[in-house]
Amino acid sequence: MGFTPRGRGTPRGRDGFGDRGRGGSRGSRGGSRGGFSARGGIDKRGGGRGRGTPRGGRGGSRGGAKVIVEPHRHAGVFVARGKEDLLVTRNINPGESVYGEKRISVEGPDSTKTEYRVWNPFRSKLAAGILGGLDEIYISPGKRVLYLGAASGTSVSHVADLVGPEGLVYAVEFSHRSGRDLINMAKKRTNVIPIIEDARHPQKYRMLVGMVDCVFADVAQPDQARIIALNAHNFLKANGGIVISIKANCIDSTVDAATVFAREVKKLQEERIKPEEQLTLEPYERDHCIIVGKYRTS
Ligand SMILES: C[S@@+](CC[C@H](N)C(=O)[O-])C[C@H]1O[C@@H](n2cnc3c(N)ncnc32)[C@H](O)[C@@H]1O
Repeated sequence: MGFTPRGRGTPRGRDGFGDRGRGGSRGSRGGSRGGFSARGGIDKRGGGRGRGTPRGGRGGSRGGAKVIVEPHRHAGVFVARGKEDLLVTRNINPGESVYGEKRISVEGPDSTKTEYRVWNPFRSKLAAGILGGLDEIYISPGKRVLYLGAASGTSVSHVADLVGPEGLVYAVEFSHRSGRDLINMAKKRTNVIPIIEDARHPQKYRMLVGMVDCVFADVAQPDQARIIALNAHNFLKANGGIVISIKANCIDSTVDAATVFAREVKKLQEERIKPEEQLTLEPYERDHCIIVGKYRTS
C-alpha cells in the first residue's frame, strides 16, 4: 500500500480537536503567555510558558468546573476543553511540572482529582504531529517505547504520561548536559529509563533495553535513517511502529524539504521499514515532517 505525504497547511479538523479550536490566531514559539489553541493561538488567560522557563511551575491551574477533559482518539492523550482547547497528558507525577508547563486539575464525579499537563506542540514534534492529524502513533498506555534524541526530557515526560505506569520509555541522549536534566526528570518518573549514550551504538545499551513496541526518533542527524534502522534491528518487535521526526536542513540544506523527505523514505524502505504516513509539521515547525511506519522482519 502506498502512502501520500500530507501536511503543509493547517491541522485537519477531525485529527486535531475536531471542529473546535479552528479560529485561534498563531502564537509565538512556546507561547510566552497563556496556552495555545489547536492552531497555536495564545490563550490570554495565562499559563503555559515559553522555552527556558525554570522547572517546577507553581501550582495547578484553576481547571475545575470551567475545563472539561476528554480523551483524544489516540489513547493516553487528552484534550482539555475550556476557553481554548489544549492537548494534555495525565500527569504521572501529580503536583509537579517538568519544564514549567501548565497543569490542569479536574475533579471527577466522585470528587477524585486528576491532574493533566499541557503538551505544547511548539515544543514537541510528537504533539505537533498529533495535532496535525497523525492516524497512528504506535504509542499508547502500556507500550514500551525506545525514544532516540531525548534531550532534556520534556517530550519524553509526556510520552511517559501517555504510556502510563504499565508502560516504559527508554530515553537515549548523548549530550551529557541535556542528560543531566533527563536523569533528574526520570527520578520522578519511574517508567523512564535514561540512557546517556550515542544512539549509533545500540550495543552499548543492549543490556538495559528490552524489546519495544515503538521506536521514536528525533535526533536531527544526517545519518538518522541508519541510526533508526540499527536500533530497530536490535530492539523493535516484528510489526512494531516507527515514528520519526525529520528536520530537512539537518539532513541536506542544499535541496528542498520535500526532496529530503522523499530520500529519507527511500532509505527507510531499504531498512525493512514500511512508511505508512508522512505529515509536515506546519504551523508548529517549518520544514519538518513526521514519518510513521511499520517494521518488517522479513
Ligand atoms: C531535536 S533535539 C530532540 C528534542 C526532543 N525530542 C524534545 O522533543 O524535547 C535532538 C536531540 O538528539 C540528540 N542526539 C543527536 N544525535 C544523537 C545520537 N547519535 N545519540 C543520542 N542522542 C543524539 C541531541 O543531543 C539533541 O538533544
